[in-house]
Amino acid sequence: MARVVVSRHLPDGGLDPIAHHEIVIRDHDDRYSAGELAAALADADALVCLLTDRVDGGAMEAAPALRVIANVAVGFDNIDVAAATERSIVVCNTPGILDETTADLAFALVLAACRRMSAAESDLRQGNWQGWELSGYLGQDVHGATLGIVGFGRIGQALARRASGFSMEVIHHARRDTGLPGYVADLDELLARADAISLHVPLGPDTHHLIDARRLALMKPTAVLVNTARGPVVDEEALAEALHSGAIFGAGIDVYEKEPAVHPRLLSAPNVVLLPHIGSASVRTRTAMARMATQCVADVLAGRRPAHPVNPEVLERP
Ligand code: DGY
Repeated sequence: MARVVVSRHLPDGGLDPIAHHEIVIRDHDDRYSAGELAAALADADALVCLLTDRVDGGAMEAAPALRVIANVAVGFDNIDVAAATERSIVVCNTPGILDETTADLAFALVLAACRRMSAAESDLRQGNWQGWELSGYLGQDVHGATLGIVGFGRIGQALARRASGFSMEVIHHARRDTGLPGYVADLDELLARADAISLHVPLGPDTHHLIDARRLALMKPTAVLVNTARGPVVDEEALAEALHSGAIFGAGIDVYEKEPAVHPRLLSAPNVVLLPHIGSASVRTRTAMARMATQCVADVLAGRRPAHPVNPEVLERP
């Protein structure tokens, strides 16, 4: 029986694949501090963690028996994968299973930002709605508009399917030519052409502040920006400025640079829909993500190949 540290509470059924192991999970559901995590990992064989846990070389150094880290997320920028690989620790994530749910939310943000839903609802709730007006809450049409998708992996493609059902023209940019219709090699060109732009790239050194002040300035004044990927892909300060100055029409944001903090100028910006990182948050998807992560742990501990290693080279080692 191995010792598996589970950093946070998982949805019902999420622990089933590792039920035969010793599971270390706290009664309360607070985040581990760096020191607490290192202490908890001291004699652990496996870690199941969330994207809110920073798992760096220091934590791994304190865990000589650690064999596998499974992140209950597709993004794994919270884990130092190089440090794990150096120590022959397998890192796993949960790709695929959350694509449709996340694309649903991204499309909801396109709709909500184009049609000014947050501002309109907020006025109504605060008793500021004076009744129907011909020029009240005028937004931008979604049907017939051009959607620019940045990053055309599984989630980007799932979003494209939704957009075509709304009679949108879809163009996309990716680092490598996808060979698919609508491919635009130059990101700047896509930003200038699209009416709504949705980001679906992983966070890494190449994508940090991919959307900065210069690129925001390329967007149409009627355009909206949607981010369900990772906060630091957008320069939040520059985005807030673009919204306040009217350089772009609106934004739909689910992820932030310093979660759970939200840039104060974004909070006060007009026509921005702000959600608390809920892209994959449906009961079915979050349960499936948890089970996928714990199944990977069970597989590694049993000497089987896990379905979703992000550093598969470790598995080739004797
Ligand atoms: C992920 O999986 O990376 C998402 O951001 C959380 O659903």
